[in-house]
Amino acid sequence: MTAFDGVKACVFDAYGTLFDVHSAAAAEAATLGERMTSLSQTWRQKQLEYTWLRSLMGAHADFRQVTRDALDFALQAQEIDEPGLAERLMQLYLRLDAYPDVRPTLERLRAGGLKTAILSNGEPTMLAAAVEHAGLADLLDAALSVEEVGIYKPDARVYQLAIDRFGLAGPAEIAFVSTNGWDARGAANFGFQVAWMNRFGLQLDRLPGEPKAIMTGLEELPGLLGL
Ligand code: LAC
Repeated sequence: MTAFDGVKACVFDAYGTLFDVHSAAAAEAATLGERMTSLSQTWRQKQLEYTWLRSLMGAHADFRQVTRDALDFALQAQEIDEPGLAERLMQLYLRLDAYPDVRPTLERLRAGGLKTAILSNGEPTMLAAAVEHAGLADLLDAALSVEEVGIYKPDARVYQLAIDRFGLAGPAEIAFVSTNGWDARGAANFGFQVAWMNRFGLQLDRLPGEPKAIMTGLEELPGLLGL
């Protein structure tokens, strides 16, 4: 059964979907010890909150700044004052691990004749570094950043970037994949055909926009697209 219909391009969220955001703190496990998980979770949660809040305030700052602000908050919350640690973690954020299902899935999508792209909160140099480090540049047609519109997901102007980039007739020609439930909802509400990549066995957020599919691994995507 083909769950998705008429798709011309597959567009992916970056952080949490293709790249493991917790791999940065994991690389500093020796320094962080048992505080590693809570630091990483607070860092991520605050990073996302700051994107939403800055968008509501009309006070945009790029994702590098927001990520650093969130990290400083998280370090203070854990009472960690280790010289050079924040700088090291920010550098690690430029070379996050890609999840193992990313490359084989992108290869199958491209072999099936589909366009592929990232659509992310990340600012362009962060995205380029992560893509380069993961060796994915040859498998992506574009890495689209919210910096083109100066507001964060789930603002509709962000999702529109993907339609414009590929010159498509409308949102239904895009299959969008995100691990972030609120992003999956936002993208579905915009009109994309969405697969929520439920990597972490979470509850679906109670927001408008119905994902067409829920996956537990990216390798399920080509089948959903009839490839
Ligand atoms: C992104 C965040 C939401 O890559 O993970 O856009």
